[in-house]
Amino acid sequence: MEFQEMKEYIIEQALSKQLISATISQPRAKSNEIKRVKLKPIEIKNMYHIQIEYQYERVLKHENIPIENFAESLEKLFDQYRQMHADFITEKVQVQLSKKNKVMWKSEKTASSKTVNLSHNRKKNYLLDEDTPYPFLIRLGVQTAEGKVKKQKYDKFKQINRFVEFIDDALAYLPKGKPVRILDFGSGKSYLTFALYHYLKIEKGIDIRVTGLDLKKEVIEECAMIANDLGYDQLEFLVGDINDYNDETTVDMVVTLHACDVATDMALARAVKWGASVILSVPCCQHELNAQLNAPGLDIMLKHGLIKERFAALATDSIRAEILNLVGYEAQLVEFIDMENTPKNILIRAYRNGKKPTAEQFEKYNHFKQMLNANPFLENELKDYL
Ligand SMILES: C[S@@+](CC[C@H](N)C(=O)[O-])C[C@H]1O[C@@H](n2cnc3c(N)ncnc32)[C@H](O)[C@@H]1O
Repeated sequence: MEFQEMKEYIIEQALSKQLISATISQPRAKSNEIKRVKLKPIEIKNMYHIQIEYQYERVLKHENIPIENFAESLEKLFDQYRQMHADFITEKVQVQLSKKNKVMWKSEKTASSKTVNLSHNRKKNYLLDEDTPYPFLIRLGVQTAEGKVKKQKYDKFKQINRFVEFIDDALAYLPKGKPVRILDFGSGKSYLTFALYHYLKIEKGIDIRVTGLDLKKEVIEECAMIANDLGYDQLEFLVGDINDYNDETTVDMVVTLHACDVATDMALARAVKWGASVILSVPCCQHELNAQLNAPGLDIMLKHGLIKERFAALATDSIRAEILNLVGYEAQLVEFIDMENTPKNILIRAYRNGKKPTAEQFEKYNHFKQMLNANPFLENELKDYL
């Protein structure tokens, strides 16, 4: 079988919904960080998709491709890999490619009794399993003593799991060979701080030291007591203001979740000054830009108070991400949890790459700021770095 013919055959099988699962391996380049890729069909909103699971050394990433785009994705995969095992409903196929794409093809007919499971099973995909008792979730009242998620705490459970997914994605960016220092600014009741500790320290066995900092003394005392009860000896809670926290010289990961208004910016500025490798920040209630906005060209939008407030919040997060890009980070704005749970659903995720910005990036940033009449708190905090 020729290379082109082989690809068309696989694509045809997928288009006719015959695919059960497939594994693609043997990267052509040694430097390829993704050692293996798995494919399976899933249904999302009644539409047939192929889920591609990219297996990095320590992280799994998923991408769901509408079936009409599958041919393009498969082409790219065969540009990068030389082996495929595919399970179709009536056939098992093995493909081995030479460096010059000569195809070795083995196929074996199978009984046609197999069925394809298309369910996009969120429950199974959760990193913290729904039916496993976790001491911290029981202690925080999210699970019953038997390990069942309480009905009224289900949204919290989903939020915790989503957050753990982001922690998992960030694993590859954390330093190795030394204890990882983590700060959670504005930790409040600290559901996510405990989740982070559980996942990294207990499930992944990573040597970490975590501090949760918050202004509220009583809340911090309660969290410290829970950490003590759980035997979480590398998790401490401190009462204090983000802006006055100068106890550290290096911090590897900074987390802020729903820290109010410019408290988020204070935390981002601290993280940059420490050169943190990972920043995960979900902002909350931005007021700063709303008060500064003056953009006559946008009057048709901004004359509506509601739109102005939302626009100011979105522009603030865009500015924050751009400032992080300008000071040596790869920053993205991604969805934290589904919109139906809370409108505070944007997460600023930034991984340090140390790259110097171009003059064009600066120009675009300044232009955007001037267009809105913005004077960002974060820029002022980081003026020595820009
Ligand atoms: C909305 S709560 C979020 C708590 C927690 N991170 C969560 O997501 O559940 C915001 C927290 O930030 C704290 N906070 C606000 N400004 C702060 C500051 N300047 N320094 C320390 N904590 C601050 C508040 O006390 C509050 O507990």
